[in-house]
Amino acid sequence: MPKHPAIALPRLIAHRGLSAHAPENTLAAVKAAHEAGYAWVELDVQLLGDGTPVIWHDATLKRCSDGHGRLAMLDLAAVRRLDVGAWFGDGFRGERMATLSDMLALLVELDMGVNMELKVTHRRSGTELAEVVVPRLLKALPPERLILSSFDQPALQHARSLADASLLAIGVLTEGVPATWRTRCEALDAFSLHTDWTRLTARRAREIKDAGYRLLCYTPNDPAAFAPRWEWGVDCAISDDPALFAGIAPPPRL
Ligand code: G3P
Ligand code: MG
Repeated sequence: MPKHPAIALPRLIAHRGLSAHAPENTLAAVKAAHEAGYAWVELDVQLLGDGTPVIWHDATLKRCSDGHGRLAMLDLAAVRRLDVGAWFGDGFRGERMATLSDMLALLVELDMGVNMELKVTHRRSGTELAEVVVPRLLKALPPERLILSSFDQPALQHARSLADASLLAIGVLTEGVPATWRTRCEALDAFSLHTDWTRLTARRAREIKDAGYRLLCYTPNDPAAFAPRWEWGVDCAISDDPALFAGIAPPPRL
């Protein structure tokens, strides 16, 4: 195992910010997570057509804004005109799409940790995304408060070429855990593996933990159904509503 940053990984991470209670991937959602007592959030980042990195999950605008069309076709001036809060509730009307720069400033101000997911949508380049995003993350945040993850192997490979394991914790994102999980993790000097909680098996969880990796699960919102995974060795649940797990998630590992 390479030397990794000394990350105090919490048991619970707020997915897309506190997305059960605020519009996902917004500054409001991160403020809500902080106010609710969560130290870490998971967020998605991708590039606008003009190359500006923004905090956004979908390839399109429709689901989470009052606009429509593809993110890749827009520049910053265009997305700044969108309302990205009203779709969630009147109390969030007027919320604007966060650039990576806006979001990093907030995370620094609030002293929060982030699992930043490089979100590679159809036919876009993961390498280009990593090239733009990784240096900004490394400049803004201490290594102990950052995990970079992606489903996209080229994006993670490029990220690793920009910073070694002691400076950048990389999380391999998978849906099910593939038979090749170990080679993928080793090739990246990965810190962690993040998988769909419904597709994890006890056997795979044990293999991953025995190999020394942190094991994170997305996106459980049913703590009773999730409960056996803590026994399997899962370190952290990335949930839309982590408060559901109050009194159920075990204490942090020391
Ligand atoms: O990073 C965990 C999770 O966010 C991955 O899936 O689609 O919610 O970004 P998605
Ligand atoms: Mg995500």
